[in-house]
Amino acid sequence: IDSEDADYLISLVRSIPDFPKAGILFRDFMPVLADARGLKLLIDALIAALPVAADEFDVVAGLEARGFLIGPALAARLGKGFLAVRKAGKLPPETVSEEYTLEYGKAAVEVETTAIKSGDRVLIVDDLIATGGTAKAAADLIERCQGTVAGFSFVMELSGLEGVENLSQYPCSALMIMP
Ligand code: PRP
Ligand code: ADE
Repeated sequence: IDSEDADYLISLVRSIPDFPKAGILFRDFMPVLADARGLKLLIDALIAALPVAADEFDVVAGLEARGFLIGPALAARLGKGFLAVRKAGKLPPETVSEEYTLEYGKAAVEVETTAIKSGDRVLIVDDLIATGGTAKAAADLIERCQGTVAGFSFVMELSGLEGVENLSQYPCSALMIMP
């Protein structure tokens, strides 16, 4: 995408102070999805910025909840399948679970034990990386299921939180770096 398109995408992101807690500047990409040009540009930009070639992964995994909004669109465009990495308690057993700490709380992510086949190469996608806790937990989960993490695609990266540094062993891309 060209720089005019990039500026347009950035202009659609909404920033909400003190949500969900005082001191958090919440970065909301829903207006990107709501906009016909924005949504197409978003998927185009994610594909152009893939951290690894498309033939280096088999499946796209999205992180609940906002990774679910981009993962399937990206996967469909690339001819891949989609895997939902869910928050704890949403899936019936048998599940594999991994706990993590958030910028504003604590949680766990889960997949069904049979969701990942040994050797599956997985691209993990989410709207945003802050501390990297969610992303790292998802990577640990996939590896515990004998999958391989091919890389991470994010729409936004919050600077100053060292999120991507926490994923330094993996190829990562982010479309927008947010102060
Ligand atoms: C947000 C965001 C990422 C995560 C990033 O999700 O969509 O998944 O936080 O934070 P981290 O890098 O510090 O781990 P949230 O946990 O708010 O969940 P939701 O999408 O289900 O509301
Ligand atoms: N997840 C963690 N921190 C966030 C932020 N500042 N905006 C949106 N989602 C987030």
